[in-house]
Amino acid sequence: PEASTPTAVVSVSQYACQRRTTTENNNKTFTDAFEVLAERYELNEIEGPCLAFRRAASVLKSLPWAVRSLGATQDLPCLGEHTKSVMEEILQNGRSFEVERILSDERFQTLKLFTSVFGVGPKTADKWYRRGLRSFNDVLADSSIQLNRMQQSGFLHYEDISRAVSKAEARALRNIIDKAVHAITPDAVLALTGGFRRGKEFGHDVDFIVTTPEPGEEETLIPKVINRLTKQGILLYTEYQASTFDMSKLPCHRFEAMDHFAKCFLILRLEGSQVEGGLHIAEGDSRGWRAVRVDLVAPPMDRYAFALLGWTGSRQFERDLRRYARMERQMLLDNHALYDKTKKELLAATTEKDIFAHLGLEYIEPWQRNA
Ligand code: CTP
Ligand code: MN
Ligand code: MN
Ligand code: MN
Repeated sequence: PEASTPTAVVSVSQYACQRRTTTENNNKTFTDAFEVLAERYELNEIEGPCLAFRRAASVLKSLPWAVRSLGATQDLPCLGEHTKSVMEEILQNGRSFEVERILSDERFQTLKLFTSVFGVGPKTADKWYRRGLRSFNDVLADSSIQLNRMQQSGFLHYEDISRAVSKAEARALRNIIDKAVHAITPDAVLALTGGFRRGKEFGHDVDFIVTTPEPGEEETLIPKVINRLTKQGILLYTEYQASTFDMSKLPCHRFEAMDHFAKCFLILRLEGSQVEGGLHIAEGDSRGWRAVRVDLVAPPMDRYAFALLGWTGSRQFERDLRRYARMERQMLLDNHALYDKTKKELLAATTEKDIFAHLGLEYIEPWQRNA
């Protein structure tokens, strides 16, 4: 209906950190198409257009109305020629032929399949594809392929970990981690982060920040948690990375995808009896448990707000926070710190609100960061 098209258009910022984006997406047909295009460019390592489609999708996700004509998009940022031609196609035909061509492309399908395995990135997927492999059976039957430990558990638990994790399952895992950290140190701090903190109903994993007020103690927290979970017999896979964080090396001028805090990537065994309403598993599956991916990160307490902001996401929201800091404020933001290049000093923060305030940004709640 026409009523959903705004009459007085409030200007939409090019930065996701100046938009409020809930999990309600009024433009899913467009954003799903853009995601396919972005993935195609990503798998071919063509960064510019990949980012352009992700940015465009993010702008459309923030709109409280559905786009019904190309004219309605004329005041929106980040929509280029290519993006608009795809939208036009969808508006006219209900679908995009370019997207359909990509979805039916053998290389795209195979790379998507291979990268859906925990531990398999675009490089490995491409190597397998060029070797002529097209299915999991092909990969597993090829004796010249040496799967690493992560990929082995990726295949072993494929069905479970490619299945979405529910909110109830995330809550059950929170209870397990909460018991573990508090048994180790009574004043431990635990926060749910990632997509579930943003209010998502389902996720691909569950992300937690764990720390303690005692400086230095956070570095041994994760190994102790791992120990405890091992004794409970619920640890199916562990990848632990010790801290390489060094306060004296801040700020970090080049952007790194990974922060330097102690962290681990786990696969846990979750019992159905611990989940209110039961497990989110296939109908007819009577095992009574499922495997779930869990990430833990342990920053020192004085870095807590930065780590929380960085791990809450979404990825697009994080990208734009950093870009905004750099371009509009001459500041450097990452998961460790915020550095003011003009004042040449690191800015302190104990809450996320402090960080938004330093950046001169209106506070955006976690559930409004689904950019
Ligand atoms: N992140 C990070 N460093 C990593 C891994 C993740 O800073 N080594 C951040 C990402 O930028 C992301 C957040 O942590 O914003 C959560 O990552 P992830 O679990 O991959 O995504 P979610 O947003 O939680 O989505 P999903 O529901 O699919 O898990
Ligand atoms: Mn997550
Ligand atoms: Mn994660
Ligand atoms: Mn660094």
